[in-house]
Amino acid sequence: MSNRMWGGRFGGGPDDIMEEINASIGFDQRLFAQDIRGSLAHAEMLVKQGIISPQDGASISQGLHQIEAEINTGAFNFSRALEDIHMNIEARLAEIIGDAAGRLHTARSRNDQVATDFRLYVRDALEHIGTQIHTLMGVLTAKADAHADTIMPGFTHLQPAQPVTFGHHLLAYVEMLSRDAGRFHDARKRMNESPLGAAALAGTGFPIDRHMTAAALGFDAPMGNSMDAVSARDFALEALSAAAICATHMSRLAEEIVIFSGPAYGFFNLPDAYSTGSSIMPQKRNPDAAELIRAKTGRIIGALGGLMIVMKGLPLAYSKDMQEDKEGVFNALDSVSLCLAAMSGMMEALSINKDTMHAAAGSGYSTATDLADWLVREAGLPFRQAHHVTGQLVALAEAKACALDALSLADMQEVEAAITDNVFSVLSVENSVASRSAFGGTAPDGVRQRVAHWQNWLKENG
Ligand code: ARG
Repeated sequence: MSNRMWGGRFGGGPDDIMEEINASIGFDQRLFAQDIRGSLAHAEMLVKQGIISPQDGASISQGLHQIEAEINTGAFNFSRALEDIHMNIEARLAEIIGDAAGRLHTARSRNDQVATDFRLYVRDALEHIGTQIHTLMGVLTAKADAHADTIMPGFTHLQPAQPVTFGHHLLAYVEMLSRDAGRFHDARKRMNESPLGAAALAGTGFPIDRHMTAAALGFDAPMGNSMDAVSARDFALEALSAAAICATHMSRLAEEIVIFSGPAYGFFNLPDAYSTGSSIMPQKRNPDAAELIRAKTGRIIGALGGLMIVMKGLPLAYSKDMQEDKEGVFNALDSVSLCLAAMSGMMEALSINKDTMHAAAGSGYSTATDLADWLVREAGLPFRQAHHVTGQLVALAEAKACALDALSLADMQEVEAAITDNVFSVLSVENSVASRSAFGGTAPDGVRQRVAHWQNWLKENG
């Protein structure tokens, strides 16, 4: 049998394989609530404009509400033969209210319908993700506050470079996440225009009111070009791009959790609730949640690349290729949301080994830069020469297998006569971090000021 919705000119139905490749109901049923919302707004507008009768409008609305209840309770029968969520709902509407169902699709096409549904869905998801980012920022800010004075090694090339405070390290992620929140917020603002009423691609001759449906669905305005309205997917690309960048940030933190919770570093204690054991090695405590955040970032980035590649070859306006936009977006937005939840829970429960971190901060001659700076400031050496002298002192300490501040003054003066006892005041990790007090640096007081800044920001943007 040919398709009831579009099969007028067809003699027979599709091959089974055609049906399988063509159907999207397996994944786009997720859009049912948005589809019904869009149809309700469209029907109400058609009545107000005198395009359909109030009686038909009323039965359409009553039928759509019944369908929503059926889907919510699991009583609805999704059919692959009906391809997608739009035709599944419309076919059921016809069963419930009869011929009036056929009037709902006046001045509308599945092309503007799906574009509208998908925008509504992505808009909700962006808002939810924005809230979750704020939650994670709050968790990290509170931890940074508690650890404004906690000292750890700061790394470059994953080699100990200069001591930093753990609070400062955590706040670096808060800065990244605040920009992520901004990206989601901007994407939401830009995407909030309504495609509904663009019809198949050229617009419609029916006297519809697109401003009315746009307002009813919470859009700021109707989209200004019908061809753009049905075929633009940059809103989805932007959402994916924001998701990919945000996930990349979380993945870097996840990588640090993996490294620093391992016995080689022993900085972090993974909470029981966010780690797993091994079925064969009883001593193991594995950072699975962090590893999965790191890995899911791969598929989120993949979804962005995937949709870019789908879109880049498409002429205007709609092509069925666009049906492939949904699974990647659903999966990526679900994943970033799950990662945000897991990261928040894990970081909230994470405890740290202060002594281990402190000892590591002092290793690797991490205050060598402070020594060079002292030579510039107190002994008047040009920085390049100070760098060279410090290098000699590091080599001396290395030869004696001791820390820089364990060298005697006599030893130091043999290398550079201008060194005085006062040099020892900058060789401790505490003095090192305290001295980095210029704006944006790691000094504990600076960390506390930035914590206050973010706490205010979260209150104002909460
Ligand atoms: N299921 C389709 C999609 O997701 C709906 C639009 C179909 N339009 C069309 N002209 N075949 O893109």
